[in-house]
Amino acid sequence: MVATAPHGETTADQTPAPQQTPRPAAVVVLAAGQGTRMKSATPKVLHALGGRTMLGHAMTAAGELAPEHLAVVVRHEREQVAAAALDLDAGALVVDQDEIPGTGRAVQCALDALDARVHATRAATLAQSDTVHDDEDGEHPLGDGVDGAVVVLAGDIPLLDGATLAELLAAHHADGNAVTILTTELDDATGYGRIVRESGTGDVTAIVEHKDATAAQREIREINSSVYVFDAAVLRRGLGGLGSDNAQGEVYLTDVVASARAEGGAVRALLSDDPMLVEGVNDRLALATLGAELNRRTLERWMRDGVTVVDPATTWVDADVELAPDVTLLPGTQLHGATTVAAGATVGPDTTLTDVEIGAGATVVRTHGSLSVIGEGASVGPFAYLRPGTVLGTKGKIGTFVETKNAEIGAGSKVPHLSYVGDAVIGEQSNIGAASVTVNYDGVAKHRTVIGSHARTGADNMFVAPVTVGDGAYTAAGSIITRDVPAGSLGVSRAQQKNIDGWVESRRPGTPAAEAAARTRDAAGDDATLAPQAKRELAEHNALNGANPSTDDDGDASASTGSA
Ligand code: UD1
Ligand code: CA
Repeated sequence: MVATAPHGETTADQTPAPQQTPRPAAVVVLAAGQGTRMKSATPKVLHALGGRTMLGHAMTAAGELAPEHLAVVVRHEREQVAAAALDLDAGALVVDQDEIPGTGRAVQCALDALDARVHATRAATLAQSDTVHDDEDGEHPLGDGVDGAVVVLAGDIPLLDGATLAELLAAHHADGNAVTILTTELDDATGYGRIVRESGTGDVTAIVEHKDATAAQREIREINSSVYVFDAAVLRRGLGGLGSDNAQGEVYLTDVVASARAEGGAVRALLSDDPMLVEGVNDRLALATLGAELNRRTLERWMRDGVTVVDPATTWVDADVELAPDVTLLPGTQLHGATTVAAGATVGPDTTLTDVEIGAGATVVRTHGSLSVIGEGASVGPFAYLRPGTVLGTKGKIGTFVETKNAEIGAGSKVPHLSYVGDAVIGEQSNIGAASVTVNYDGVAKHRTVIGSHARTGADNMFVAPVTVGDGAYTAAGSIITRDVPAGSLGVSRAQQKNIDGWVESRRPGTPAAEAAARTRDAAGDDATLAPQAKRELAEHNALNGANPSTDDDGDASASTGSA
């Protein structure tokens, strides 16, 4: 891992481990550009893939180096990008680039701000220690500022990871470079800065932007990825002398290569054999391509860690999702945000979950859910909708066509069919009948339903909240429960049933139903089941219609009894 030496101290001469690389003095993330080709109201670096913005990917990779300072340069949509950066890392230094364009200017603004921060820290330390440092030789009394390695990376390289940055930093120190550049080779290098190497040594003599390159230089396939390590002093001196005499009239960071070499520093490149890893996003095509590649890599990592992914092509897992061994993801599964799945659970097919915690051995089938917890061995779906605040206990069940929200369903309790459970607490081992609804909203406020443990509620119940059903209570099917049901009681709330004999033959004569009823009555051997009123109506009807169903003027057959 990365050494955690205090500021300015290199661990190399104290620690024998040769692979130990000192933490960088600073990482600078460039995020001031507009990203015109995205054609978006959202700044480019705030477009997301794998559930993280590109800025999030850059800052996550940067954070893995444990830099002393992390600076993010902003300008376009400044407020949005600055807020996002501070949200990702409250300790980040947000630096405003001025109106002078170019990556060189962006880094210059960052270095000035970082130097100022270092000076402020030193001044505070000196004030405390009472050490007066009178400097007469024209140098800054508090020293140069940032000292050591400064890592610079563009904010639009989403697949770049901390391991690659660490490798670049290690190479920078191992070779004693002034500048180390991460490069790769592309079949089509159009648009990129080309790496010009010295024959023999292989050192980098220049980076030439596509627009400034000669025809011969455009043949070069090795490109600048916009990821670098600079020695702070070399960078500071180089940036001080940069102009903008080039095809784009911008201050190019890449011109620091020439100044570093001019003062005798070594400029070397680390060639990555993984172009996708260092590829930048300029438009939405690249966003989709790299998004799919990121997903492919994420799934590959989980499969190597013991997760079964039946169909990687239709399975999407965000970068921050955590999966345990022996999890099975069935086709059409999308796991987003901070979703976690414990060992042996099966998710899918066709399930989309965001910030959901799934317990060991649970099954979640054809479900859409967010901000919910699914207990160990629980079962959800098919066709369930878990809204925020759903907590399903161990071996609980949320079944088919069930919607839940802000609902605690205890261990072993079941809501199997066609129900809505919202703003509710259900105890353990209770069963909620099919087609039940917690009626939680009175048009103004939301109210709670509380159902105890070992309760058995009937099908088609409405629980008009606030209402409580006690432990071990039953409710009758079709009940509208508006009053509390005490523990162990049966709650019934429905009209008495009455049967009107002969109604069908009387009011719907000639229909298949009436004929079926008549056949049953005949088979029973008498017509006593027909009530006198029904007999009279039936006789009148038959007299009027010649004992046959009537035919309307327009020819449509209908049972025109005249009754509604
Ligand atoms: C840059 C490199 C090029 C490299 C390519 C890789 C320079 C001069 N060129 O070119 O060699 O091959 O990246 O993708 O550096 N940015 C700012 N402020 C600015 C301009 C840019 O912060 O004034 C940021 C952008 O937000 C972006 C990064 O710097 O994150 C790169 O800028 P971009 O305009 O994409 O540079 P390229 O022309 O692609
Ligand atoms: Ca670019």
